[in-house]
Amino acid sequence: MLLYDFLTQLPSMSTISKGVSTLSSTIVGYIVPAVLSWLFIYATYQIFLHPLHRYPGPLAAKLTDAYSGFYAFQRRLHLKTWQNQRAYGTVVRQGPNKLVFSTIKAIQDIYKNDRTTKPEAYIALGPALTVAATLTARDRHVHRYKRQLVGQALSERFMRIFEPTMINQVDLFITYLLQSAKESIPVNITERSKYLSFNLAGLLGFGYDFGMQTSEENKFMPMMLEAGEYWSNIFFQWPNTRKFRLGLVFVQVLRQTRGKYLALVEKMITSRTKQEKDAQQDLYSILAGSLDTGAGGLRQSELWAEANLFLPGAGDTTKTALSSIFFYLSRNPDCYEKLAHEIRSTFKDGSEIRGPALAGCHYLRACIDEALRMSPPAPGILWRDLHPGNDDLPFIVDGHVIPRGTTVGVNIYSIHHNEEYFPDPFSFHPERWLDDSATPERKKIMREAFIPFSLGPRGCAGKAMAYLEVSLVVAKTLWYFDFGRAPGGLGEIGAGAPGMGHGRERQGEFQLFDTFTASHDGPYLAFRSRDGLFS
Ligand code: HEM
Ligand SMILES: *[C@@H]1O[C@H](CO)[C@@H](O)[C@H](O)[C@H]1NC(C)=O
Repeated sequence: MLLYDFLTQLPSMSTISKGVSTLSSTIVGYIVPAVLSWLFIYATYQIFLHPLHRYPGPLAAKLTDAYSGFYAFQRRLHLKTWQNQRAYGTVVRQGPNKLVFSTIKAIQDIYKNDRTTKPEAYIALGPALTVAATLTARDRHVHRYKRQLVGQALSERFMRIFEPTMINQVDLFITYLLQSAKESIPVNITERSKYLSFNLAGLLGFGYDFGMQTSEENKFMPMMLEAGEYWSNIFFQWPNTRKFRLGLVFVQVLRQTRGKYLALVEKMITSRTKQEKDAQQDLYSILAGSLDTGAGGLRQSELWAEANLFLPGAGDTTKTALSSIFFYLSRNPDCYEKLAHEIRSTFKDGSEIRGPALAGCHYLRACIDEALRMSPPAPGILWRDLHPGNDDLPFIVDGHVIPRGTTVGVNIYSIHHNEEYFPDPFSFHPERWLDDSATPERKKIMREAFIPFSLGPRGCAGKAMAYLEVSLVVAKTLWYFDFGRAPGGLGEIGAGAPGMGHGRERQGEFQLFDTFTASHDGPYLAFRSRDGLFS
């Protein structure tokens, strides 16, 4: 019966086919031509009439931000930008309204400039936050207020207070290496650096120990952030994807882990807010009296926003700095020898490795800078536009008058490999930073083109911590161990290879996968403890 009703209610075949043919003639007759003419007009406008039409760049980029979205999806926008810059010159139109520059003059004009700020697209970097954090704030006054607070917790002075906590964590890293040395098991440095860096971020931020170096429970956390940043970077590069609410796809795919992650951040914050403000010397002790900490619900608060960007800001960057310096030391035996000599002759005991004596290790500093140059932990373009409500003065970047509504930036990876500033850019050559034969002008130019931490009012607030962390880890490791590439295939992980293509052919280069910060793998290293240091 039911089937009968159903069948009789269906329109007859002839009615359907009549409908289909009217529909298809409408499509062919009106819609297709309308869409084609619109596309034609749009493309003509973008290519010949748009205010940026004179700027060179790939055709697809002139038409749509999907161009950047595509390379962000493939995690190689930094490599593509470097290639574009070689093909088109020092300024490239890399999106309908985007210009990427690669000169030191442009760095000054864009970043050392109070008139610029971060574009709206930066909200993509926060996980559905309702308020701005230091890293994402667009409004100048809001930013200045937050930055001054965060700056206190990350100052050189504060680092001296934090150093003992940091040393405890670095010693756990060393303990792990010792165990691996005893058992002759190669170590995946990306993995260990992640645990160390995120653990330190939790401790410095909220006096909270994630225990990632010693237990399994919270190890999902860096993985979750990595996935989050990958997606966010696609939205960041291709802001329209946000309008289509593609973020929801991400939320769905990672629903469980994301929930677990947010619960962990909440636990970190609440276990701290239960304590007295001054119970610990951490970022919270400074923010507590000044930021809104959750009258309207914790997850709507300024404190929540700050915590959610502080963890990746501090953890996801230093893990890359650590992994890359170990990679380059394991492949450049001369540098390894020089550095080992500096560390082993400066200190008399592993426990002395800290403070001013450590900061005075010049070759170490040169190795860190060279690793940050070759493999910058934030390898991409930090987009900027004019602060809203600005004056009517023209905005000039490297001699170009920038039309309103244009976002501009310098790609960090690309400028770090500009031969004009860094001869032989793909060789790890720490000596370039120390070279006494270089003229002062040459050195000044190199310093100005070196921007792993960006610069100006929005430059990295955590530089002192980053240098301290990397210096401690590398110096202590070289004090207690000798190390080298793991034998066989494991030892190749992290390097480029001829078959990898797309700018990933160089075997001496640590491979970064650009996600605003960077993903990477390896290096796998074999450690041997130095005689008599462990008894
Ligand atoms: C080698 C390690 C690091 C690198 C390469 C690095 C790089 C950067 C860069 C390029 C920016 C500018 C981002 C932008 O314009 O969107 C930045 C901002 C920032 N970084 Fe770092 N960072 C590192 C480590 C850290 C650490 C350890 C912390 C905290 C403990 C930290 C905290 C911040 C904060 C709070 C900002 C926002 C500054 C502002 O907008 O006022 N960073 N960092
Ligand atoms: C090394 O560790 C990273 C981070 O945990 C991981 O993604 C990667 O797969 C590991 N490498 C190998 C070869 O297992």
